[in-house]
Amino acid sequence: MSATAYPDLSGQRVFITGAARGLGRSVAEKLARCGATVAVTDVDAGGSDEVARGICAAGGAALAYAVDVAVREQFMQAAARFAEACGRIDAVVNNAMLLRYEPVEKITPETLDRMTAIGINGSVWGAQALLAHYDAERGGAIVNMASPVAEKGFPNTAAYSLVKGAIVTLTKVLAAELGPRNVRVNAIAPGSVPTPGAVGLNDAAEYARRARSIPLRRLGREEDNAEACAFLLSSAASFINGEILHVDGGIAAAG
Ligand SMILES: NC(=O)c1ccc[n+]([C@@H]2O[C@H](COP(=O)([O-])OP(=O)(O)OC[C@H]3O[C@@H](n4cnc5c(N)ncnc54)[C@H](O)[C@@H]3O)[C@@H](O)[C@H]2O)c1
Repeated sequence: MSATAYPDLSGQRVFITGAARGLGRSVAEKLARCGATVAVTDVDAGGSDEVARGICAAGGAALAYAVDVAVREQFMQAAARFAEACGRIDAVVNNAMLLRYEPVEKITPETLDRMTAIGINGSVWGAQALLAHYDAERGGAIVNMASPVAEKGFPNTAAYSLVKGAIVTLTKVLAAELGPRNVRVNAIAPGSVPTPGAVGLNDAAEYARRARSIPLRRLGREEDNAEACAFLLSSAASFINGEILHVDGGIAAAG
């Protein structure tokens, strides 16, 4: 990586979950371009290895860890290894999620348990991992991945939306609870981004319809969210805490 990209995140050590593809991958690559050392973690071990290798080949600093965020021991062990390798953790990006939509009567106990374990429990373990390894003098930051579905009733998304609603609540609670300990907690609510995980949820006609209805008249891009995440982790956001930053072209505002 030749020139450090904006904003300057040099010296930051950032642990990112679900970073083998989609938004998490884009976040990892962007933060590394901005000078951060990133932990590229995912339940897909091969995928996170590949992303970390790509970042290092481009001159960035990345380490890969196989982590199922639903399993607290895996999360905490990987965080401890990353902190040992780099000295501390400055930020955690709780991005991992299982994207699945289905009518409420089709939701099985296994699906509900798995989705809540990844999205809700995993975000709590992320906060614990940050607290175990951050430097209170320097401060810490958490970015959670919310969604516009947390605020509006989208049919057939009950399991997914309740997880995202909980993540919005968790973000606000932890902003209040951890602010006094010099930790900022914010969330991004991405609009419709055709990532590998999302394309299975909507067909091409649905994406075309959405692109026409989004006020900015296009779908979201992975980079839009990576830019927002880099901003939230930067010194430019040092007084931003408890914010749900919509990166959705105006979907939430338009209702
Ligand atoms: N794509 C969108 O339109 C959109 C909109 C709103 C919110 N989001 C949120 O953005 C985040 C990323 O979504 P995406 O679209 O990139 O999805 P994606 O499916 O393309 O990527 C998700 C990644 O998370 C990983 N993952 C899944 N379960 C895991 C687990 N238990 N432990 C660790 N990693 C796990 C997957 O292996 C995958 O690499 C999610 O939180 C999603 O809810 C996405």
